[in-house]
Amino acid sequence: MSTWLVTGAAGFIGANFVRLASASVEARLVVLDALTYAGNLENIADLVEAGKIEFHRGDICDIDLVNELFDRHRFDRVVHFAAESHVDRSILGAEPFIRTNIQGTAVLLAAARASWQDRQGKPLFLHVSTDEVFGSLESDDPPFTEDSPYRPNSPYSASKAAADHLVRAWHHTYGLPTIISNCSNNYGPWQFPEKLIPLMILNAFDGRELPVYGDGRQVRDWLHVEDHCRALLAMLAGGQAGRTYVVGGACERTNLDIVQRIALEADALLRRSPGSAAKLIRHVADRPGHDRRYAMNAMALQRELGWRPRHDLESALPAVVRWYWENRAWADRIRSGAYVEYYEQQYGVRA
Ligand code: NAD
Ligand code: TYD
Repeated sequence: MSTWLVTGAAGFIGANFVRLASASVEARLVVLDALTYAGNLENIADLVEAGKIEFHRGDICDIDLVNELFDRHRFDRVVHFAAESHVDRSILGAEPFIRTNIQGTAVLLAAARASWQDRQGKPLFLHVSTDEVFGSLESDDPPFTEDSPYRPNSPYSASKAAADHLVRAWHHTYGLPTIISNCSNNYGPWQFPEKLIPLMILNAFDGRELPVYGDGRQVRDWLHVEDHCRALLAMLAGGQAGRTYVVGGACERTNLDIVQRIALEADALLRRSPGSAAKLIRHVADRPGHDRRYAMNAMALQRELGWRPRHDLESALPAVVRWYWENRAWADRIRSGAYVEYYEQQYGVRA
């Protein structure tokens, strides 16, 4: 049976991925996650307890540990999610991003190369990356494609771009079978509530301010996390080594539009009068170097691997808002301790 190393699966997308993969793929799933502030064993505890995945707590920068896991499990797939993933935190301090996203990826590439040198079969290293490596679009630019030049603007996107370049180089120079996936903004269950959508949902429930950076007219291309995970499974099943695939929902929305929708959904769910939560919207200082617009053209993935998003934002958002309402205890456990400190540093008020 195939054995997959999944890094960072105690985080948002990785947790959704192992949930989907364990239900749909014949493979042993071994998770490596350091459980940083963003990693939460609770996200995958039921899968670990049911024996559907094997969990190892550890750092992808730990060469000995990574080599030891490769020796023990003879992985033939690596699905690499582990990263520092939040732009605002990268602006507050870039060092963990440089370490985990660049150095950690280099460690995994070296271990895969050593392990797969005289390997039969068809191993594959799937590197999960972001649209942010391509920089910012003007309002009338066409969406990014696989051929877009790299122009990262934040410490986060620069560190992801550096990791993408390493992956590309390991394929080009050493023939390592790699795929790079560049995806747009995800939303869905188990997202750490420092990102736009869960932060706004939880603040709307609590009657707290909804802090919109700058004019709120920045545009993101939103994709339901399950659709992203299905795209990754399609790449693992039929993707071509050496390729990059661009993934997106063709769902461009301004931040203000997203926040207003969330506010209305929260009003409806809590039976408050429509417009109550929208009164909590506050325009706050803009993010330094804030990218104006991201958009993805996922036609190659659609054409070559038959992938299409199944969720659209308008019909999926109510269920996502409800998920955060039904999982308030999960969110409350996260929003204590270090989260309170971060929130105060970022927004100047206590969480
Ligand atoms: P996340 O921050 O929710 O989760 C990251 C996970 O990585 C956590 O479980 C954390 O504990 C783990 N981790 C961090 N440093 C580690 C280390 N040194 N060793 C081992 N584990 C470590 O992130 P996410 O939103 O789930 O994103 C996952 C991946 O997808 C990232 O690579 C990110 O760049 C990429 N991505 C995210 C989005 C998005 O909208 N969230 C969109 C496109 C691509
Ligand atoms: P975020 O979820 O941090 O994702 P990214 O920066 O990787 O796209 O932010 C999404 C958008 O929402 C981005 O344009 C910044 C904006 N934003 C706010 O306006 N207020 C907030 O409190 C947060 C967290 C984000």
